[in-house]
Amino acid sequence: MNLDALIPDYVRSFQAYVPSRPDHLLMQEYGTSVLHRLNNNENPLGPPAAAVRVIAAFPPERAAIYPSGDSYDLREALGRRFGISPDCFLVGNGSCEVISSVIKAFCQAGDNIVTADKTFAVYEWVAEFSGIEARLVPLRDYAFDPQGMLDRIDRHTKILFVCNPNNPTGSYWSRQVLIDFLEKVGDDRIVVLDEAYREYVEDPEYPNAIRLMERFPNLVLFRTFSKMYALAGLRSGYLVGTDTVVDVVRRTSVAYSVNVQAQQAALAALSDDREHIAATCALVKQEKAQLCRVCDDLGLETVGGEGNYLMIRTPINDMLMYRRLMKRGMMVRTMTGFRFPGWIRVTLRERWVMESFAGVLKEEVGAIRASRSTTP
Ligand SMILES: Cc1ncc(COP(=O)(O)O)c(C=O)c1O
Repeated sequence: MNLDALIPDYVRSFQAYVPSRPDHLLMQEYGTSVLHRLNNNENPLGPPAAAVRVIAAFPPERAAIYPSGDSYDLREALGRRFGISPDCFLVGNGSCEVISSVIKAFCQAGDNIVTADKTFAVYEWVAEFSGIEARLVPLRDYAFDPQGMLDRIDRHTKILFVCNPNNPTGSYWSRQVLIDFLEKVGDDRIVVLDEAYREYVEDPEYPNAIRLMERFPNLVLFRTFSKMYALAGLRSGYLVGTDTVVDVVRRTSVAYSVNVQAQQAALAALSDDREHIAATCALVKQEKAQLCRVCDDLGLETVGGEGNYLMIRTPINDMLMYRRLMKRGMMVRTMTGFRFPGWIRVTLRERWVMESFAGVLKEEVGAIRASRSTTP
């Protein structure tokens, strides 16, 4: 079989994403009996209580029946929550799935998308393995650069992706910056705002982007139940747009991709999120401040805005630091893949885990510095 002749060039040259191996294998490899996950920005508090009850009471016989093919009840609930039509929502198997649907809906060969160089890489990856050029604009002061993005637009630009707040730097555009940007972009292309971490932002200047969709019908939002709502393992996220835009994106989406338990749990989570969000934000705020102090004392630079994570500059290569921390049962995210070599990103977790992380970090940084000072 001449497989090579079948493969488009842009697929041949694309390196597949390698997910981390299961915890039990990693623990064996690194010789550790515990493994704390500080790598994926998960919420250690778990889902809101109502979602926990729905998951626990899930009737096994329901697994034999297909779910709603378009997450009907969940979209109805989202419509009620945000005061817009349920037709303005498209639910996906995690928000990663809707990234792909949007690119397929609007881009064809010769088109391009514009985003940042140091952000959530899935926009860039989906574009590239679909044969669409991804134009990457450098961050400015760790934030998306509106003018830099506008400068890269040409007549083939179909979508601009802005991660707000940005993973991994935590920076975000205020309402005014967003409005200026949307005005300058005009209405000939789609602007996607990925709001995966929106519930962590307390600043009143953070845009209520749904309210801007009437004025800017080319605005599309991505949101997820994986982060604040702690349903990452069930996979559900959604897109918000005008009903006209959503009608187009729905054509390139796979119906039935969101399983029944994910739909039910997301629906319950949405109905019971007020205290959950407050408790999670309080935890993140406290642990971010605490970890920043630890890093300051160690003389390690940090970058952290909003979101449940903090970037730390490491005194050695990030992959080597990752290995050292893994051997001590701490799994962080290396940042070379985000084009931040020499940095790690740490998810902020509950007190006792962060305390042991701080202890391990201090010891490892101390050992690295000691070995340097004794090296001739
Ligand atoms: C900015 C951003 N968008 C989207 C996602 C994907 O979320 P989901 O689990 O809904 O696919 C992530 C996950 O890390 C993220 O950081």
